[in-house]
Amino acid sequence: MGSLQLKSIRKAFGDHEVLKGIDLEVKDGEFVIFVGPSGCGKSTLLRVIAGLEDATSGSVQIDGAEVINTPPAKRGIAMVFQSYALYPHLTVKDNMALGLKQAGTDKGEIETRVTKASAMLSLDPYLARRPAELSGGQRQRVAIGRAIVREPKLFLFDEPLSNLDAALRVQTRLEIAGLHRRLKATMIYVTHDQVEAMTLADKIVVMNAGAVEQVGSPMELYNKPANLFVAGFIGSPQMNLISVERLPELARAGIKTIGIRPEHIALSRESGEWRGKVIHVEHLGADTILYLETEVTGLLTVRLFGEHRYDADDIVFATPDKAFMHRFDASDRAMA
Ligand SMILES: Nc1ncnc2c1ncn2[C@@H]1O[C@H](COP(=O)(O)OP(=O)(O)OP(=O)(O)O)[C@@H](O)[C@H]1O
Ligand SMILES: [Mg+2]
Repeated sequence: MGSLQLKSIRKAFGDHEVLKGIDLEVKDGEFVIFVGPSGCGKSTLLRVIAGLEDATSGSVQIDGAEVINTPPAKRGIAMVFQSYALYPHLTVKDNMALGLKQAGTDKGEIETRVTKASAMLSLDPYLARRPAELSGGQRQRVAIGRAIVREPKLFLFDEPLSNLDAALRVQTRLEIAGLHRRLKATMIYVTHDQVEAMTLADKIVVMNAGAVEQVGSPMELYNKPANLFVAGFIGSPQMNLISVERLPELARAGIKTIGIRPEHIALSRESGEWRGKVIHVEHLGADTILYLETEVTGLLTVRLFGEHRYDADDIVFATPDKAFMHRFDASDRAMA
């Protein structure tokens, strides 16, 4: 079991309030991802959950029991950091076993757990090596192995893949997804990476300036962002957020901003809703990203599937798919 409830978590450093009353429910076995701009309080919240940082006020419950006064080692939580913090003089095997040894776990039990974790993470060939003799991805797996052997109720990951190169990130991301399926453990994971968030999460928590903006499944956040912040934060390239200054009929309906994702705009050389000029084109192979300047919208990003032969200074017409248009009111809330 590993459910988690946070109630009104506040944390201040001096008079700087970093967490401004966080409420969150995480179900047993869920994979929850925290995203948000740098400095919004993601790591601080993880550290409060782990007990490495005291909350100023509020409640942390694991499986229904209050743990706010329980020391970190007794919370049944394992945390994996971005810097793996392995012991350089210990072998891979001893790095994984150390926490259990210190906790006085029986030798046979340690052996069983380390063997199992090593097999799960494909670390068997490296057990006798020291961290300096491993690649970044292998070191990251050892750090994860060290968490697994403790059989925690709850795993906390703070940007565990940000030190890895692109290919290795993809591979390790798949491994973490597989690990979650096999262990059926509750995982809370902080990342800056949109793709990691969208592909790994059952539930994404979007944080901004110490508060939760929205909680939902990846597709809920993508299809129905609750406000302008989430609309702009989830999705890459970003959703186009267009002020209605030059769209009087929308302004009359009480709309302040419309949002349209780059992939929900059609492009034509002949005719369409918004006439504009191509500023820049990015040919990505699988996609073509165009940046236009139109009279009505100002800068507009358009994403076309596949390769398209547009050039800077071409005159084009962009037509948004109305079914995918988002509308926001004067307080930046999504309108029905
Ligand atoms: N020990 C501390 N003392 C004072 N301020 C702190 C301390 N730790 C964090 N902060 C401040 O709290 C805020 C939140 O920091 P936190 O590390 O939680 O952000 P984050 O969302 O994890 O950012 P990043 O994405 O850059 O890792 C920041 O403004 C930071 O400067
Ligand atoms: Mg952080």
